[in-house]
Amino acid sequence: MITIRQLAQWKESGEKFTMLTAYDYTMAALVAKAGIPVALVGDSLGQVVLGYSSTLPVTMEDMIHHTRAVVRGAAGCLVVTDMPFMSYQVSVEDAVRNAGRLMKEGGAHAVKLEGGADMVPVIQAIVRADIPVMAHIGLCPQAVHQCGYRTQAVDAAGRKQLLADARAVEKAGAFAVVIEKTEHAAAREVTRVLKIPTIGCGSGPYCDGQVLVTYDVLGLFQDFTPCFVKRYAQLGDAAMTALTAFAADVRAGKFPEAKRGQGKQNKK
Ligand code: KIV
Repeated sequence: MITIRQLAQWKESGEKFTMLTAYDYTMAALVAKAGIPVALVGDSLGQVVLGYSSTLPVTMEDMIHHTRAVVRGAAGCLVVTDMPFMSYQVSVEDAVRNAGRLMKEGGAHAVKLEGGADMVPVIQAIVRADIPVMAHIGLCPQAVHQCGYRTQAVDAAGRKQLLADARAVEKAGAFAVVIEKTEHAAAREVTRVLKIPTIGCGSGPYCDGQVLVTYDVLGLFQDFTPCFVKRYAQLGDAAMTALTAFAADVRAGKFPEAKRGQGKQNKK
């Protein structure tokens, strides 16, 4: 079972590690079998699973529902669940209660939330309730209407802000921090300075770990692909080929064949 202590040890020893998103049992089981130590139930499920145009409409109920499925599949992984938009911004009390629900009702092992220095009281209160917090700085998709999706920390002021945010979330008690879509040199400096592990998402090669959206890695989500993503498979195209072949077979009377399903049940 991967723990937050293990991530700290990897930081100490300089061993790079991975995190991938999972939103359901089947994908979580694949992520775990592939040896990915951290499964993130990301609120990116709003786009790739629920078809919204941003993460903003995702609810606590959505996150609890999907976390339960991931926990059943991701054997041995550290399961981290995103706190959805407006589940932690209104009050510290709200934030602790909602983080608690993700752990108690969803079965998550840790929560992730977006924001830097502004989130210090929230992170402190959640950690005080013995709930491990992964922070998320740089590009924060929940702030899309305020900040857009552009690269962060591109000038001196931005780099200073990123470093201040990173130091603040570490001091507040976060056990790791995602750095999304920043200048690579800025992420490298944060990684050098912090004692907790940094996990890069489009922030270059110098972070302690790397995270991507699994549906992007597999080429399953085709509406858009962030520029920093590398596709390791084209499963969307493979699925299209298979699904159109099935439909053609049925139309042509080739499926099901007369004997299919008449014998013994297929083994797993
Ligand atoms: O929601 C998500 O998938 C994320 C990762 C991209 C870091 O927050």
